[in-house]
Amino acid sequence: MGVWANLFDFLDSNASSPVVERKTQMALLPILHYPDPRLFRRAARVTAVTDEIRRLAADMAETMYAAPGIGLAATQVNVPLRVIVVDVSEERNELLTLINPEIVDRQGEVMSEEGCLSVPGIYGQVPRAAQIRVRAWNEEGETVEFEADGLLSVCIQHEVDHLEGRVFVQYLSPLKQERIRAKLAKRARMTA
Ligand code: NI
Repeated sequence: MGVWANLFDFLDSNASSPVVERKTQMALLPILHYPDPRLFRRAARVTAVTDEIRRLAADMAETMYAAPGIGLAATQVNVPLRVIVVDVSEERNELLTLINPEIVDRQGEVMSEEGCLSVPGIYGQVPRAAQIRVRAWNEEGETVEFEADGLLSVCIQHEVDHLEGRVFVQYLSPLKQERIRAKLAKRARMTA
């Protein structure tokens, strides 16, 4: 009890402390919708992991969790930099922030049923590598390298595609892509 009282005193008397401010500054970012041309741009490499990049990643994570989604690329929130956030855990507590992610090895093939926060309500079968090896920077700017399979592997491949300006529907047949464009255009007109 005393601990909580002290904590609240601390929060009250430190309303402008950096920690509290950072939390209140976090923001939900608007997500671009296919076929917005900004989704087809290739994102630039991050040259240094600054506080601005960390804030972007924190806002992206908040946006992903709120959507809710299992991954989000900076491209989707109209920031053309190579940053992705991913969390494929059931409990939503295994956030992975990857800066300048590269897929350095691919093994096997799977078909994955995918959706995307930029293409709401649309799902399709996409060919992906079954296993990948990923190299990236973490939020401290350190190089991390790891192997991924299953949903994590598919999700990272999907998000890295966004950084290349690729949306999953581009793997589908031209006819299907045309139908998706028509459906989303109609929906946009109805909600306008
Ligand atoms: Ni997506």
